Amino acid sequence: MRAVEFHEYGGPEVLKVVRAEIPEPGPGQVTVDTAHAGVNFADLKARADGYRVASLPHRPGLEVSGRIRAVGEGVEGLRPGQEVVALLDGGGYAQVAVADAATVFPLPEGLDLRTAAALPTVLPTAHALLHEVGRLRAGESVLVHGAAGGIGTVAGQLARAAGAGAVYGVVSSPAKAGHARDHGYDAVFTAASFPVGVRRATGGRGVDLVLDPVGGDTLRTGLDVLADFGRLVSFGNASGAPPWHVGQPELAARGHSVAAFSVLALARSAPEALRRLAERAFRTVTDGTVRLPVTAEFPLSDAAGAHRLMGSRTSTGKLLLRTAD
Ligand SMILES: NC(=O)c1ccc[n+]([C@@H]2O[C@H](COP(=O)([O-])OP(=O)(O)OC[C@H]3O[C@@H](n4cnc5c(N)ncnc54)[C@H](OP(=O)(O)O)[C@@H]3O)[C@@H](O)[C@H]2O)c1
Repeated sequence: MRAVEFHEYGGPEVLKVVRAEIPEPGPGQVTVDTAHAGVNFADLKARADGYRVASLPHRPGLEVSGRIRAVGEGVEGLRPGQEVVALLDGGGYAQVAVADAATVFPLPEGLDLRTAAALPTVLPTAHALLHEVGRLRAGESVLVHGAAGGIGTVAGQLARAAGAGAVYGVVSSPAKAGHARDHGYDAVFTAASFPVGVRRATGGRGVDLVLDPVGGDTLRTGLDVLADFGRLVSFGNASGAPPWHVGQPELAARGHSVAAFSVLALARSAPEALRRLAERAFRTVTDGTVRLPVTAEFPLSDAAGAHRLMGSRTSTGKLLLRTAD
């Protein structure tokens, strides 16, 4: 089979197509003949900086859709030939991927394999950020960084569906603002203008919930624009800034909370909780509440093209690799 790996860290050019042995599932695992693989920002971080890479060579890819090829010992409720989507610990950029059965889901009703490949990381994550972790209540205001990307496109729609009083987004360039406005956002600011924009839009009150995948100064400024009793959920460090520790005194003054979320960490530590979360989240797509447009699709052999596009910070929605042909 064909797969994409990197043997050294670097730019998109380090992604190489390789011929590899077809893997066999271990106990509690299945193998999937993949149709599509989702591209995630974490894949770019893995390739460039070694994020979550245990050793080289490394095969990226955190989510796939496809048909179950083989079922390992002890796996129940999944059968060869079944159409599924899977959240993976890596290895999705391949014609056959290995998945823990705990994070393999039957293809959600009414979806095709292409649409469904976009869901396993983004949908549960965006749902958890707003609901299970962010505890959004109707009428509250939300600010989402990376509003036009995969997570941002879903978070805007979920916040709107939850009855948020106002949904604000932040993007790196005005060209992406229209995409965000089409997906639930009332107003979209650029990274430079968001502190002033939020204060003006909220009459100086600030927002109730900030979703922050950037870290560093952006996280610090996000705390500054929180309303009294506001919450900030940290879910990434796109800026690559050193971790910044928030102290009790600065949170206590206005009753602020900071929480964090990682869908991959949850999959490892509490797979049953992840499963229930994913089922709730997928329902928002099957019932039409949320759509996640696939804005570009690349053949597996051009995974580098997908990384170039996402790395250029011009992409919107979700990027996919076509792995089957
Ligand atoms: N914690 C979790 O469980 C979890 C799960 C999935 C994703 N994430 C995180 O969520 C974010 C979005 O992931 P995605 O896969 O859906 O990607 P994406 O949003 O489709 O594309 C990458 C995003 O990163 C932003 N970005 C790129 N370089 C940046 C930088 N140097 N500083 C600030 N922002 C930068 C871009 O927004 P602008 O160019 O508009 O700023 C863009 O929205 C990523 O940070 C990712 O690590 C976390």
